[in-house]
Amino acid sequence: MRVIIKNDYRGMSREAARIVAHQVLAKPESVLGLPTGDTPTMMYEELVNMYKLGLLDFSRVVTFNLDEYYGLSPDHPQSYHRYMRENLFDHVNATNENIHIPDGRTKDAKSACKSYQEDLSRYGKIDLQVLGIGPNGHIGFNEPGTDWGMTVGLVRLSDTTRNRVAPRFGGIKNVPVHAITMGIKTIMRSKKILLLASGKAKAIPTKRAIEGPITEAVPASVLQLHPDVTVILDQEAASQL
Ligand code: GLP
Repeated sequence: MRVIIKNDYRGMSREAARIVAHQVLAKPESVLGLPTGDTPTMMYEELVNMYKLGLLDFSRVVTFNLDEYYGLSPDHPQSYHRYMRENLFDHVNATNENIHIPDGRTKDAKSACKSYQEDLSRYGKIDLQVLGIGPNGHIGFNEPGTDWGMTVGLVRLSDTTRNRVAPRFGGIKNVPVHAITMGIKTIMRSKKILLLASGKAKAIPTKRAIEGPITEAVPASVLQLHPDVTVILDQEAASQL
């Protein structure tokens, strides 16, 4: 595990964008695993800038998002479909058939998970999986206690996670109870992993993830077993290491 510490959020984002850009330049048909959340927004902004400068081409890049809230339509302001359009896909030349995000609207979650898994299998392994980390150590929506053998599945969100996003949904009653997420097993099959964390709220989960015991109570701790992980932190997120 390689740990890179940058001064601030901007530095973390630029370093992350550079690593993603290297991947796409080295292999234009790369399969990228992509996260949502506040952490990667500036990384996406940097990638969009590189695209606008003519440095990056997304036309052959294949993307798989980590997760989606169950029950939200793609146009819901808090859906990850919408997030990805607004932060990346509306601004670059990625093609619709190469973009994959779990279907949060389906009535049949089981078959939606199965078809996401089949889509993933068609491409073999994810070349570069980018991850954020939740304050409770979750990655994707693999909450503490989620079965690490799951490939893609419907999971129940923890109270901590739901409460954290409640203000954005206009109250806890509007926050979905479930989500569809890529499982730890799929994440661990990726060739390379990039874990990003910024800010004080991530200091303890980051420490637990990279220095603590490997335990289902801290899903990100599984990354200690992956052969090619780069962690990029800002000073605040690194403050407990
Ligand atoms: C969400 C997402 C995760 C993300 C995490 C951290 O629950 N499902 O993929 O990494 O929370 O979010 P943020 O970057 O906003 O702190």
